[in-house]
Amino acid sequence: SVTRHYKFNIRLKNVTRLCHTKSMVTVNGKFPGPRVVAREGDRIIVKVVNHAPNNISIHWHGIRQLQSGWADGPAYITQCPIQTGQSYVYNFTVVGQRGTLLWHAHFQWLRATVYGPLIILPRHNASYPFAKPYKEVTIMLGNLSFISSNLIESFCHAILLINMIKKIWQIIITTGEWFNADPEAIINQSLQTGNGPNVSEAYTFNGLPGPTYNCSAKDTYKLKVKPGKAYMLRLINTALNDELFFSIANHTLTVVEADATYVKPFETNILVIAPGQTTNVLLKTNPNPPNASFFMLARPYFTGMGTFDNSTVAAILEYETPSQDNSFRNRTLFKPSLPAINATNFVANFSSKFRSLANAQFPANVPQTVDKRFFFTVSLGANPCPKNQTCQGPNGTKFAAAVNNVSFALPSTALLQSYFFAKSKGVYTADFPQFPLHPFNYTGTPPNNTFVSNGTKALVIPFNTSVELVLQDTSILGAESHPLHLHGYNVYVVGQGFGNFDPKNDPAKFNLIDPVERNTVGVPSGGWVAIRFLADNPGVWFMHCHFDVHLSWGLRMAWIVLDGELPNQKLPPPPSDLPKC
Ligand code: C2O
Repeated sequence: SVTRHYKFNIRLKNVTRLCHTKSMVTVNGKFPGPRVVAREGDRIIVKVVNHAPNNISIHWHGIRQLQSGWADGPAYITQCPIQTGQSYVYNFTVVGQRGTLLWHAHFQWLRATVYGPLIILPRHNASYPFAKPYKEVTIMLGNLSFISSNLIESFCHAILLINMIKKIWQIIITTGEWFNADPEAIINQSLQTGNGPNVSEAYTFNGLPGPTYNCSAKDTYKLKVKPGKAYMLRLINTALNDELFFSIANHTLTVVEADATYVKPFETNILVIAPGQTTNVLLKTNPNPPNASFFMLARPYFTGMGTFDNSTVAAILEYETPSQDNSFRNRTLFKPSLPAINATNFVANFSSKFRSLANAQFPANVPQTVDKRFFFTVSLGANPCPKNQTCQGPNGTKFAAAVNNVSFALPSTALLQSYFFAKSKGVYTADFPQFPLHPFNYTGTPPNNTFVSNGTKALVIPFNTSVELVLQDTSILGAESHPLHLHGYNVYVVGQGFGNFDPKNDPAKFNLIDPVERNTVGVPSGGWVAIRFLADNPGVWFMHCHFDVHLSWGLRMAWIVLDGELPNQKLPPPPSDLPKC
């Protein structure tokens, strides 16, 4: 094993796309950001120096951070943000993991432009559990967001509100009561707070919007391949708020890995990837390709409010052969077809195909017994409007999102420090509810009380607790899928279903043999998902929806995993350069 050193200079940089040049927060002036590459067992040291006017922190999404929780990165959870002119050294070892992950900013909505691939290769002399691909290619699916991240945050709220209000209005129309305001007036009011049609100008492949948008044909990602070879595509969804369908015309893909864990290979023409998720696929190229170009397309899967941005982004797969006619115009263009924007059954069916490889070399260590069972609802809701503010939710309330009816308020100092130095007073309370406070029929008519409570509540569990957690979507403000990401852990996805989770009959159907292991789990729209994990990593671990809009509305909570008895079961003290708030 070796130590890999990286330096991230955070700075503003002018980036030109869609015939516009705008200033963006970047790492080393790159959009998307630089690759971080290591092998399993290596130590990664990244010195982050902040030259930008924004505060920032960087998260190594999917890295377990075993006993290195100080390097995890979420602002106000494991560290205070790195202020302008300050620096912080992230120092961690990659233990027992190999595959495709990502790094991204974890403060406000800065990950809109600050993200990049995090590639963990197998150890020297170790091989993939499939034939070595001819080439490996990283493809990041993302957004192009030109406006500044603080603006994005408030602006995106305004736009989503419009869509949400339309949806709520539909609910109101069908259920009567609950809302008296004139929706048109609110929509107009929201429109005035924004300054453009959308927070995201386009979706992108590796930062390039491609030929389906105005003025971007030359900013098209092209994948050039040789005939009759196997390529491994490392697909990463870095989009802010959208699960995406992905497909390549006339080519079948073999899925071999998800969230840096090997899976039993399966073939598909269309993939679904949620923000924060990664999928490795093998692409076998045609040994005798026609004189053609093949579109790769991505487009959102969306179950929420209205149509936020349902545009399609395109990239092109081309064959490098001597006989190929080099003029693009003479070629046939093949286009894949993608499912409907709200194809929930397709998505559920696709996610049920994932199984851990679960062989002797890569066993599935699914906890077979459970110490603690938890049931969390994930929901959109509303809060009373704070004094002196104008709020745009129903009846003048403020939109919110919650886990078990608790909308998590970020503290003004880092939770991990407060916990580690036993200075929790006034920072957090250890009373996160293990079950929802107001149980109801999660998929039926919304109740007339949408209020959630606010608080910085943590759920404290002893070291090595074997946890089973059911995450239940609700219909309080309309059913919607939520990609839930747990920091510091991979979890086994033992079951999923539509409707209300049935504690009597559903557990009997759990897969305890070869469930897929992931760091970001889709809670199905109008359904539930059950996960298991062993809490063997002491520290404070954020869990949240990986849609930034839901994250900032409060669909987030924190686990505190206590130290164990042995020295190697304790979280060491923080590094001396840990940022201060
Ligand atoms: Cu990739 Cu807490 O996030």
